[in-house]
Amino acid sequence: ESISKKYERTIFNNFSISVQPGERIAIIGENGAGKTTLLRALLGNLQLDHGTVKWAENANIGYMPQDTYEEFPNDVTLMEWIDAYRKEGDDEQMVRGTL
Ligand SMILES: Nc1ncnc2c1ncn2[C@@H]1O[C@H](COP(=O)(O)OP(=O)(O)O)[C@@H](O)[C@H]1O
Ligand SMILES: [Mg+2]
Repeated sequence: ESISKKYERTIFNNFSISVQPGERIAIIGENGAGKTTLLRALLGNLQLDHGTVKWAENANIGYMPQDTYEEFPNDVTLMEWIDAYRKEGDDEQMVRGTL
């Protein structure tokens, strides 16, 4: 609802949209247009200058960042990291396949 964000220049200004369950939207724009900034605004990862973002009560938010660097601690191996998601009976072959 009326979201605005400005860095050195205005990225978006008074932008509003209502997205219904089941809708799929592609955000298309040249490099630096503001796609990532818009997504970060929707995630609440960004201080907006104006406006509000409201998710459905039962929304389940998933986000795969372009740069995953911050998602992984750098002092563990991938095998160690994925241990947290291992379920009973997942053997090493299963884990390697998933990775
Ligand atoms: N944290 C920030 N501080 C200052 N400027 C930023 C920041 N994040 C993005 N920008 C600027 O905002 C514009 C949009 O960036 P971005 O959303 O990453 O574009 P896109 O994802 O469409 O390539 C760019 O000009 C970028 O330099
Ligand atoms: Mg981007």
